[in-house]
Amino acid sequence: MNYRSIEILTIACLAVSLFACKGPKSYKENPDFKVEKAEFGMTKEGEPVQIFTIENPNGVKVKLTTYGAMLTELHVPDRNGGFTDIVLGFDDLESYLAGHPYFGVIAGRVANRIAKGKFSLNGKDYTLATNNAPNHLHGGENGLDKKVWKAEELIGSNAVGIRFAYSSPDGEEGYPGKLDIVVTYTLTEDNSLVIEYEAVTDQATPINLTNHAYFNLAGEGSGTILNQQMQIFADHFTPVDDTLIPTGEIGPVKGTSMDFTQPMTIGSRIGKMVGDPGGYDHNYVLNKKQPGQSSLAVRVKDPSSGRVMEIYTTEPGVQFYTGNFLDGTLEGKAGNAYQKNDGFCLECQHFPDSINQPNFPSVVLNPGEKYTQTTIHKFTAE
Ligand code: BGC
Repeated sequence: MNYRSIEILTIACLAVSLFACKGPKSYKENPDFKVEKAEFGMTKEGEPVQIFTIENPNGVKVKLTTYGAMLTELHVPDRNGGFTDIVLGFDDLESYLAGHPYFGVIAGRVANRIAKGKFSLNGKDYTLATNNAPNHLHGGENGLDKKVWKAEELIGSNAVGIRFAYSSPDGEEGYPGKLDIVVTYTLTEDNSLVIEYEAVTDQATPINLTNHAYFNLAGEGSGTILNQQMQIFADHFTPVDDTLIPTGEIGPVKGTSMDFTQPMTIGSRIGKMVGDPGGYDHNYVLNKKQPGQSSLAVRVKDPSSGRVMEIYTTEPGVQFYTGNFLDGTLEGKAGNAYQKNDGFCLECQHFPDSINQPNFPSVVLNPGEKYTQTTIHKFTAE
């Protein structure tokens, strides 16, 4: 089967799955899909936080918490049916509250960087936190990753999910407008984790939402991801300055260490990615026939376990980040000290600093419009 037919099949399955999932909540429909809710602790402000476990009949298990609408665990099979958790993170809420590099969170209101934390919209200037000096990163000091979201369980005949909602007040973190956001994670019977985003606003505002999971297909805490084979369906990327702000060009990957149009191990040319701390931390411009159309963006394979992750997205770009800032100081799950390159992120989103870059697709949401994005992570083993 070629990529195109897999893509069509996945999108067709998704439509069926989600339709079924939107039905009334009922455990009777398919008892093999499970959802469990537990208390996860309290924020420093005394807000209770819950954690949900959802599972499909194949044993794929996902944990999601109301803190940051975060994906904290993802257990998928290898080629022999052995399950491992393939996302980096912690075992307890306290460790997340103590601060971390956006493990599994929903990042926003504007994920990625805004140059110098400044932008103008409809003749008005806005100043945001420069929490990644000199730039604004992932929505600021107290972004969506640090909010407690409302949660609703969804169970259907062939999918199970959790729908998170958060209403960001006008002016929060310096952004204009009240923004109502819904993020739904759905686990389907074909081992896909689907993340759907929706938002509406009452004033024009920039928006760019993404999930910031750090993956290691051999299992979190198992060492570096440098031997995993990456294929990114992008002929172009957005070159950046030394503060990781795009120059505005759309550059070809061909002939550079950025070229993953054919499967290559992540480590094959990573040493050539100069700078401090080096590695990949770049936005790829995905090959698309139509803007907004879901397409296969990435295929990653771990040769040791045979696990394969394919990502389909409606977004124009994907930020490929190789965990360059991990330095062994964070004790993750089961005390695993995460080192540089122990995980990779594939953040499907709009291009960095789009609000200041007239040549990039717009990230402005106006009143009366609906922001939507859908990203599918499909797991197989070979
Ligand atoms: C950024 C990195 C940053 C990381 C924070 C990524 O999305 O591109 O530069 O260090 O998030 O964890």
